[in-house]
Amino acid sequence: MRILMVCLGNICRSPLAEGILRSKLNEEFFIDSAGIGPWHVGKEPDKRSVSVAEKYGIDISSQRARQFSPNDFDEFDLILAMDSSNYSDIIVMAKTDEQRNKVRLILDDQDVPDPYFGEDDGFEEVYILLEEAAEKIVHELNSK
Ligand code: 4NP
Repeated sequence: MRILMVCLGNICRSPLAEGILRSKLNEEFFIDSAGIGPWHVGKEPDKRSVSVAEKYGIDISSQRARQFSPNDFDEFDLILAMDSSNYSDIIVMAKTDEQRNKVRLILDDQDVPDPYFGEDDGFEEVYILLEEAAEKIVHELNSK
């Protein structure tokens, strides 16, 4: 099972989502993350994400940003978007229903707010939302 987390820049939310979900699953699951935009390709996660993850015992510092590619539809079984704008950006790149059906919002009825231009406590809020989301995903995967 291969799961891809997607946000806008791949430096704040999706690296956290990747690290949190990986910490809850065994090696049979391959977890990765990507960004819609190209601006931060090759860069480390935002220091504020690294630091909130560290606070909860998760090391995301070795991750490097990359851009989402339409090839990811073939490489992954499940593609989880952080917000509805990311979701739409992914869906327009999908060519088949099979590809579209792989894409979901990570929180079914809510966006994970973009913390990039905000204060540090925005990262804590994002962490808590993603921790809850990851718990639900693990529960779902285990009940399959
Ligand atoms: P992310 O946050 O999508 O959670 O990684 C952002 C990071 C960078 C930018 C926007 C959002 N940016 O505009 O550079």
